[in-house]
Amino acid sequence: MERSLIILKPDALQRGLVGPIITRIEQRGLQFIGLKMMHIDTTLARRHYGVHEGKPFFAGLVDYITSGPVVVIAVSGKSVIEVVRSMVGATNPVKAAPGTIRGDLALDIGRNLIHASDSPENGEQEVGLFFRPEELLQHERSVDRWITE
Ligand code: RTP
Ligand code: MG
Repeated sequence: MERSLIILKPDALQRGLVGPIITRIEQRGLQFIGLKMMHIDTTLARRHYGVHEGKPFFAGLVDYITSGPVVVIAVSGKSVIEVVRSMVGATNPVKAAPGTIRGDLALDIGRNLIHASDSPENGEQEVGLFFRPEELLQHERSVDRWITE
């Protein structure tokens, strides 16, 4: 079982796209184990995107992700990292395939709506950064046997 952290970035809330984006993820069959609204502060933003520190877009990225409330979601399941990344699409929405969230709903790399963990290790680390253990509700779903063999 892998875990992935998804962030619906401030533009997703401003544009009223939280529902449509969550619907896509939910309809795929993925299991939500944590979901909340929050306002990311600069310290958390710099830590979350620490790998990009020093790059020319870093300051703008921190400004963007801290510019308003976000929705953070933890999802759990087999291969969730790859499944969610493929639903999200390429970083630059100009290059993102139609059918992906960025390819259908976004236009600009600096307003690309959504974050998703890019490796199982980062998924674990990021879920731990944004959720306290008691906020994560791993649970049985009776429908799971109709989603995975
Ligand atoms: P994310 O971490 O948000 O899921 O995005 P990603 O993996 O697809 O892309 P990543 O390389 O991790 O970049 C993180 C975010 O930084 C912004 N960015 N801007 N102007 C630029 O060249 C540039 N490159 C990256 C984007 O908001 C990207 O999602
Ligand atoms: Mg990334």
